[in-house]
Parts: sequence; C-alpha cells; structure tokens
Amino acid sequence: MEPDDMRWWQRTIAYEAYPKSFQDTRGQGTGTIRGITERLDHLASLGVGALWLTPVYRSPMVDNGYDVQDYRAIDPSFGTMADMDELIARAGERGIRIVMDLVFNHTSDQCPWFLESRAGRDGDKADWYLWRDARPGGGAPTNWRSIFGGSAWEWCEERQQYYLHTFASAQPDLNWESPDVRQALFDVANFWVEKGVGGFRVDAITYIKKPDRFVDGTPDGEDGMARIHDMTANTEGILDYLGEFKRGVLEGHDVFSVAEANGVPASDLPRWVGADGVFDMLFGFDHMHVPMGAAEEWCHAPAWRLTELKQALTGYQTSTAADGWCPVFFENHDQPRSVDNFLPAGADRTQAARCLATVLLTLRGTPFVYQGEELGYANVAWPSIDDYNDVSSRSQYEFALREGFSEAEALEAVHRFSRDNARTPMQWDAGRNAGFSSATPWLPVHDDYASQNVEGEAAEADSVLSWYRELARLRQDHDELLCGDYHELLADDERIYAYTRASANATATVLANLSVEPAGYDPGLTRGSALVASTHGGATPGMLRPLEAVIYETR
Ligand code: GLC
Repeated sequence: MEPDDMRWWQRTIAYEAYPKSFQDTRGQGTGTIRGITERLDHLASLGVGALWLTPVYRSPMVDNGYDVQDYRAIDPSFGTMADMDELIARAGERGIRIVMDLVFNHTSDQCPWFLESRAGRDGDKADWYLWRDARPGGGAPTNWRSIFGGSAWEWCEERQQYYLHTFASAQPDLNWESPDVRQALFDVANFWVEKGVGGFRVDAITYIKKPDRFVDGTPDGEDGMARIHDMTANTEGILDYLGEFKRGVLEGHDVFSVAEANGVPASDLPRWVGADGVFDMLFGFDHMHVPMGAAEEWCHAPAWRLTELKQALTGYQTSTAADGWCPVFFENHDQPRSVDNFLPAGADRTQAARCLATVLLTLRGTPFVYQGEELGYANVAWPSIDDYNDVSSRSQYEFALREGFSEAEALEAVHRFSRDNARTPMQWDAGRNAGFSSATPWLPVHDDYASQNVEGEAAEADSVLSWYRELARLRQDHDELLCGDYHELLADDERIYAYTRASANATATVLANLSVEPAGYDPGLTRGSALVASTHGGATPGMLRPLEAVIYETR
C-alpha cells in the first residue's frame, strides 16, 4: 500500500474514552460530554483523529450504558444532545472525528421496544426479541449460561414466556431475523451519520445471529450449563445481515466501522474486513485470550508464553495483509491494564508501558489507545468484592466460588482481570480527585495519581505520556510505519518481539524486549541501519536492556 492510498482512519491514532470516568464538569462524580470537549487538547497532543466514546445514550446504566433505552437521546448524567453536537463540532475543528458505539445485539429492558414486545404475543413488536416457552415440565428453554453468569433466559410474568439475554438479564437480545428490527437499527445508525460522526464501533456483533434451533449444550461447569458463546457466536449467515448493514448505513458515507468480534478467528478475517468484507476493521481477541484464557472465566486463567502472544498478533497482521486493516489494541474498557496483563510481575511499569506503546504504535493498523494507557496506568486491587462496581466482576467472583476456589483466590482473579481496572477516573493532575471531579468519584481514583497524571507526565521527558507523543510524531514522519508491510523476526524468542515494517523506500525494524531480563539478538539484524527511536536513550546493537524497545530504519 502507498501512503496516498490510505484513508484518514488508517493514518490516524484512535482513542477510546470511557465518558463516565473521563472528566466531570458538574461536580457529580461522573464524567460529562462537556468534560470531553474541555479535554480535546490532550487528545490532539497525541495525534488522535478518531475518538470512540463508549455509550452515552439514555440508559438505566445496569451495564454502564451498554443497556440502551433510547438510541437517539443522551443520558442526562452525561449532558444533552446540544452538548453532543458541540463536541462533534469542536472535535472536528481539531481534526478529531467522533466514533459512536452501536449496541445492536440487545437493548435495555427499559427500552420502549422491549416494553411493547413483552406486553403480548400479538403486538407489532411481539417478535422483536427472542421469546420462547418454558420447556415441557417448566424451566428455561435451554441450559445456556449468559456471558455475565447465570441462565441466559429470564422469565417474564407479563408475557408468560422466557426471553434470551446474552449478557445481563436487563439486556434482552434483539431478534435480527425480523426485518423491522434490522431497519430500526439501521435508522439509528443513519441518525448518527447525519449528525456528522466519523465512524462506529459495533458492539458484540458476533452474537446477533442465533442458530435455527435452540438446543442444550454440553455442560462445562458445576452449574450444568453451557457457555452461550459456544452456542451462538459467529453463526452461519451472520454476514448476510451485516452486508445489509454495510449497504444500508456505511456505503456512500465517509465513516469507518470497527466491530467487536469475539469468536471470529484470524483466519476468517478476510470474509469480514476489506473490500469484500463488511467492516473496515475488526477487534479480535486472540491476543487478549493468551493471558486470560479463551473461556473468559477468570479463575481458570492459564499460564502463558510470549511466543503465544506474538503468534496471536502476527495472526491478525498476516490475515489482513493482502486486503484488510487491523485495529491494534492492548486495552479497552473491558480489559485489565496492559502493563499488568502482558508483562511479568515486578516489571517497572513506566518502562513496561513505554515498551508496549512502541509495539502498539508501530504494528500495521490503526492503534486504539485506551484512556489512561498513555499514562501507564496499572490495575487496582481493592480489598473486597463489594468495592467493585462491574456487573461481570461480581458474577465472575460468584462463579469462582461455585467452582470451588477460595474467597482469596476468587478475589485475586478479580484483581487481575476486573473490568473496573480500566474504569477508574482519568488522572489529570495531582490535585483533589486527580482533577477528575470536585465530588467523590463514582469509582475511586487510583492511589498513584500523584505521580501518574497528565500534567505531571507532560512535564517529564521520559514519562509514558511523552513517549506516546514522540511515537505519534514518528509515525507521521516515517511512512513505512504507517503503511509498510509487516514481517515477523525472531518468532521463537521468548523475550523479544521483533518485526520489520517495509515500504518502497524504507524499512523500519522494531525490537521490543518484553521481559525483565536483558535479551541478546544477532547484531546483523540492524547492521547498516540508523537508530530512530529508543525507550532508554541510545542502544547497543545486539543487546536490549529489560523492557527496552528500539526502532531502526534502513533506507
Ligand atoms: C461489549 C462491551 C461490554 C459490554 C458488552 C455488552 O463486550 O464492550 O462493555 O458489557 O458488550 O454490551
């Protein structure tokens, strides 16, 4: 690919904000849309051109906005539609386009569509959700376990039937078989296209198409249930619906799409992205599953090796090489902090974060930086499960106890993997509540805020934030880092992640020592090339210090 062939969303850096924890402007302890508008300078300083907001629609907030009540309204806790219009306009002036989160697998159980659907079996929206009778003799129609734990079926007194929910019971799944449902959702997306957004992150898309027959799965836990993911993810025919979405919403507009697609293997990517696919990019989770385990039951996390992580990342790179593009990400609002997730315990976290950043911003694809990642955030470890807000952390804790783990072990898994690790407030300065809010924040500020915050790190040359800013500039100055082909080196090395990015005029060689030991490599690898960046200042050919990352260039 030539630089001139690149689309704006391929050249830029994307940033994910979790609005509830970004910036409060009202002294209420939760973030607002105006808060995001006030902080656009920070994003501009990172070279961000696309800003993904997790849902800000009206919602009862059972799952922090992923339970949408009204797709065309802003939740009052975040502000108003006028605030949103203002954000789109102000961001646009700085070359930043807003990316909305489309939660289309399910709605809130308070959404008027659902209220109408549950009212009876004859109404216009009777089939907008997945209703089933109890099995003969009573009980849920199948033994599927929802992703947040417990049965995926909820009994509804009013309708005398069960409804299906892949996530929490307050998040009933929509029935995509209904053409009216599909049209209603496409209308929602077009409403936001007309508002001038630059793209969509499409939530939990692999679950929208259900199998023709609903049958029990083989139990995989003490509860006699089977993971719903194994029964419904990535069902044959899903791409037909998504093709309709492409034609009905995306085509003909300058908006990009990135879908959250747990369950789509890297080898399947060519069917999903690129000219013949549906989306521009797909968030796959193969690399996140390396430390966490594909089953996503946190208490069963496996031991893992760096080569597995490298293999997963290479899988995305190679399967999108010919026709396609990757979102590159190590964190989001559902994941633990990357320095804890991917690096050995005891690693210096500033160096760890700078090392990971080097990889994040030099793989082929659009980097998605998650709020706080650019400051080197680490996980929190609160003393009791009651300190955790996240609905899924609580159910994972219960699940671990049922599986026979002790309370201490269950809590340790929560510490390691809880989604709340990613949801603590942004740390803007060393003042009260880290400059996030004048009121008590909804989740505690991380206790390291005095040293890890935007103001402090901006003033330090060797901080995580300064390194992000430097890498952002470097990308723009070196075309091969934007569009060059990816080729992995030292694939069997358990310490170093190494690869080249080659374009017609230049080749960059990236070497990152993701271990806490020094790591040697053949110095011939970088002979004849110039050092363009180094996390540790200078470099010794053939040797990387612990957590050192370097970029060489050959012309
Ligand atoms: C996605 C979101 C997650 C949410 C779930 C249900 O995985 O990223 O935060 O809980 O979908 O909408």
